[in-house]
Amino acid sequence: MNYNKKTVEDIDVSGKRCLVRCDFNVPLKDGVITDDKRIVGALPTIKYLIEHKAKVILCSHLGRPKGEFNMKYSLAPVAKRLSELLGKEVPLAADVIGPDAKAKAAALKDGDVMMIENVRFHKEEEANDPAFSKELASMADIFVNDAFGTAHRAHASTAGVAQHAGLPSVCGYLIQKEIGIMGAALADPKRPFVAILGGAKVSDKIGVINNLLDKVDILIIGGAMAYTFFRALGNTTGTSLCEEDKIDLARGILDKAAEKGVALLIPVDNIIGREYKEDTIYMRIYSDSIPAGWMGLDIGDKTQELYSKTIQGAGTIVWNGPMGVSEWPNFASGTESVAQAVAEATSAGAVSIIGGGDSAAAVEKLGFADKMTHISTGGGASLEFLEGLELPGIACLEDKE
Ligand code: 3PG
Repeated sequence: MNYNKKTVEDIDVSGKRCLVRCDFNVPLKDGVITDDKRIVGALPTIKYLIEHKAKVILCSHLGRPKGEFNMKYSLAPVAKRLSELLGKEVPLAADVIGPDAKAKAAALKDGDVMMIENVRFHKEEEANDPAFSKELASMADIFVNDAFGTAHRAHASTAGVAQHAGLPSVCGYLIQKEIGIMGAALADPKRPFVAILGGAKVSDKIGVINNLLDKVDILIIGGAMAYTFFRALGNTTGTSLCEEDKIDLARGILDKAAEKGVALLIPVDNIIGREYKEDTIYMRIYSDSIPAGWMGLDIGDKTQELYSKTIQGAGTIVWNGPMGVSEWPNFASGTESVAQAVAEATSAGAVSIIGGGDSAAAVEKLGFADKMTHISTGGGASLEFLEGLELPGIACLEDKE
């Protein structure tokens, strides 16, 4: 796939209505945004368009309202936060493709910004419906996609407006940055190239593992998915989460890694608990087998040391997924030690890329965010990118000549 896409700088936006797809799918608690990173990430594109006198129509999804107008998923908190960040009022239309959105879009002056309501209030959005795409496109002259976090979805507002309505389509700075950094790391990594994969299931990461085994020098495995590898090696896993039907797959991955000369590291010791509960009794065991009646909930001390040393020697690091149940303090040390090692390696000159989701949250909680080369704003999207899959929201954009 060609990732050399036209950007907002390659098209004349002055006086033009630009439909800008952002990923404003931010976490909310009681109607208050708890993390505005995705809004902040969209600012460079929005500011460029304002400065270059475009008429800016922002759109996004928020949550999964299942094709119905449900004000629990209104973009109102986003419009408010964005107004504060821009120091400029961002009016929110009461609808998506209805009379209010269209009237507000028609009344825009050069340099104005507005937002339409949650595109997922219409079921046609996720169906990538051509008629709905055309309705969205009818409000604009140019499509700017800056929603990296949603680029793996082939929806009307991420791809349909380019595919079905033929709007001139370019990317914003956030997408350009995400694909630039991750694309370069995969295409021409500084070696050794170390991938760290965690999380619960091997099945969620199989595509990434397969793609990365062709590229990396070292693959570090943590999280509950490690226990499926334990079983593939004949070790016991007690009551740990283990995908029984993926044990053969894990064996195949171990063989493929050996064939390709990739060092695949799995935990050599563990922190185990009695139950899957934050306050369960727990202990450290210096063993790569887990006794009956116990479950693995984090990597052990020796593993933390081994992983940290390996990471500190890396030239390029890609990290996706926690090493243990990182949201529970007793089982967070594995993820924390990895975060610290990645931060140190980055200070020593490594390129570090953190996939969205739990690993990004851990890095932020520990205050290491500004020590990393890049923290992706897309969990699912960055995973699919690392899998080598084509992202529809990027494929639909115009290639640079
Ligand atoms: C995300 O948060 O991963 C994106 O906004 C996509 O959301 P979705 O998984 O509901 O499509």
